[in-house]
Amino acid sequence: MARLSLAFETGLLKPDGPVAALHPEVGFDMVGLNDCLIVQPFFPSNRAWKNQGFECDVTLPTRRFALAIVCCTRSKQQTADLIAQAAAQADVVVVDGQKDDGIGSHYKNLRKLTDVQGTITKGHGRLFWFAGTDLPSLRGVDQNFDGFVTKSGVFSVGAVDQASALLADALPEHLSGEVADLGAGWGYLSSRILSREAVTKLDIVEADFFSLDCAKQNVLDPRAAFHWADATVWNGSYDAVVMNPPFHTSRDGDPELGRAFISAAKRCLKSKGSLYLVANRHLPYETSLEQCFAKVLELPGNSRFKLFHASRPQRK
Ligand SMILES: C[S@@+](CC[C@H](N)C(=O)[O-])C[C@H]1O[C@@H](n2cnc3c(N)ncnc32)[C@H](O)[C@@H]1O
Repeated sequence: MARLSLAFETGLLKPDGPVAALHPEVGFDMVGLNDCLIVQPFFPSNRAWKNQGFECDVTLPTRRFALAIVCCTRSKQQTADLIAQAAAQADVVVVDGQKDDGIGSHYKNLRKLTDVQGTITKGHGRLFWFAGTDLPSLRGVDQNFDGFVTKSGVFSVGAVDQASALLADALPEHLSGEVADLGAGWGYLSSRILSREAVTKLDIVEADFFSLDCAKQNVLDPRAAFHWADATVWNGSYDAVVMNPPFHTSRDGDPELGRAFISAAKRCLKSKGSLYLVANRHLPYETSLEQCFAKVLELPGNSRFKLFHASRPQRK
């Protein structure tokens, strides 16, 4: 039995009013709370919860809740910020997470800041709860640098990702026409793509609502269009696709996700279009690239990252 069901079934938690769950992954046991509001900024997960009939949002709407359930994310700062948001708007806040997600340090911290009323440890994780209160020290702050805005929870917060920098430096001067940046994060690669004057349009496709929000602040060029969407099912007709694809599904490394991005690029490119891709050296993308493109060229990379230029997308 999961920790949350245990807390409900043993009567430790008895919400009397509206409930919200912040950032639950798909498959999280909602213990029959069918009218719970799900706050989920990751597009594919947001849609999956919606398809299960839940009311969904990307941020916590400003109203009171009897109970808010915060699910730990991989980002410690983002989780702390979610706890602060929940604590300001809910009578009772439950925090649930695995040891790997740092639930131990959140528990320790919250015990210093407020009166933790109860806890359950089970299945390599912990759940604890406390009465809602103001916790300003947990609020997230944007991490801005070199004119870029980034916030906790986004990929490569507070710095340019080295793989993206390598790819940006390798983009041809003659990059032109209609381009897509799939999995664009907070917009670094996009800003570099738009330094090419012959680019007429750039579709910035990103699944994380807050990364896209940062990209909107970082890329002010009128040629850019912003899409909160799942790149793996994206459609278009481009002269070039540029990407530093994700290699994690939640906690686990997952090369399938990168392969789905390569397949999307094949589908979205014009017959004379080009894909420019960077990947960690250990990721096995060569076979997918060769299955999707008639011509695959490895460009000079470095000890950590490899670069590819793939052209002539296969139409079969
Ligand atoms: C390795 S990061 C690259 C970020 C960015 N290109 C940069 O320059 O820093 C991959 C990005 O893909 C996003 N992502 C993950 N799954 C996605 C999906 N299915 N559709 C669109 N974007 C996705 C992640 O949120 C993340 O921002």
